[in-house]
Amino acid sequence: MTHEPEVPAASEMPTEPQVRATSTGHQTGGATGADQRRGLLRTGDKVQLTDPRGRLHTITLAPGATFHTHRGYFAHDDLIGRPEGSVVRNTAGIEYLALRPLLSDYVLSMPRGAAVVYPKDAGQIVAMADIFPGARVVEAGVGSGALSMSLLRAVGDHGSLHSIERREDFADIARGNVETFFGGPHPAWELSVGDLADVLPTIAEPGTVDRVVLDMLAPWENLGATAVALAPGGVLVCYVATTTQLSRLAEDVRADGRYAEPVAWESMVRGWHLEGLAVRPQHRMIGHTGFLLTTRRLADGTAPPERKRRPAKGAYPEESQWLPEDLGERPVSEKKIRRVRRDVGHGTPTDQTAPTDQSGPGVQGDSTD
Ligand SMILES: C[S@@+](CC[C@H](N)C(=O)[O-])C[C@H]1O[C@@H](n2cnc3c(N)ncnc32)[C@H](O)[C@@H]1O
Repeated sequence: MTHEPEVPAASEMPTEPQVRATSTGHQTGGATGADQRRGLLRTGDKVQLTDPRGRLHTITLAPGATFHTHRGYFAHDDLIGRPEGSVVRNTAGIEYLALRPLLSDYVLSMPRGAAVVYPKDAGQIVAMADIFPGARVVEAGVGSGALSMSLLRAVGDHGSLHSIERREDFADIARGNVETFFGGPHPAWELSVGDLADVLPTIAEPGTVDRVVLDMLAPWENLGATAVALAPGGVLVCYVATTTQLSRLAEDVRADGRYAEPVAWESMVRGWHLEGLAVRPQHRMIGHTGFLLTTRRLADGTAPPERKRRPAKGAYPEESQWLPEDLGERPVSEKKIRRVRRDVGHGTPTDQTAPTDQSGPGVQGDSTD
């Protein structure tokens, strides 16, 4: 992303009124931030420019300002007053397509203190945690505020999102990002600095919160405070980066006794290359962001139903030594091991030419013996 030195800082940007005349003369009102996402390009709008190589540059429109590269420049005034989707040509004849960034573009280019929840995961969280308009949602930590924006859009102006972040510097970054995106403070948003376990009891009566979203290193430390705040049937969704966190979290959710059986998943998005006859998956993808786990708050005094499908023998080893079967791996026969070992020693043609299985060591999981 390229930023220009001559445009005003986000904090100096004029905030847009919530009701404004459109290009057709109609007044538009409605949801916070909606008006600044439509209509002709205006002073103060963030605009994403795509150059002929597909590179993105984000600028904030200001009268009299110019967008420079080492190959020419153009005046912002050439874009102000024009519709989104216009193409502007610089002094060297290079063309740029101008569009307002979508939330997903904004999140990936905004200033970050902590790692952000990627748009693909934010979408999963909103859908799978059933964040609905009017919902009362609590979120921690806030980090850079990326997820907060998706949650605010989902709860709407008449819902409530209370975001808790223990680092004041991160909370400041998040506030700046969220207010820049919505063009000012969002009426449904409150932001508190502190630890979730300390803050949550002070902001929510027991049993009054519809949804809790935890994106932090050790969400299991907050299962107690969350269980108190959640309404019966309320959803807890946690986002963790590693399998070790996921495992610890799942076991602690089960052990707590106030939650239903947890459900976990991850999502992978593979972009596609679209050019003539070369329509295929892109060679590169983001292979890992995080795992999501959801669970529901049981009614007080209710024990989780006994699980019909019991964990496999050895799923919870009493001894410290883990066996491959504990991790769900299919046993590999001695015969197969002997054969593979022999083949490796002699470098059989199969070993040299077979496509590499990127998912793990070749010996495991493919035994038909
Ligand atoms: C990965 S970041 C969150 C990113 C954020 N969801 C986003 O999309 O931008 C994790 C944050 O959790 C905060 N945090 C960790 N434990 C916390 C706790 N117990 N209470 C409040 N915040 C906490 C950290 O300071 C950090 O900013």
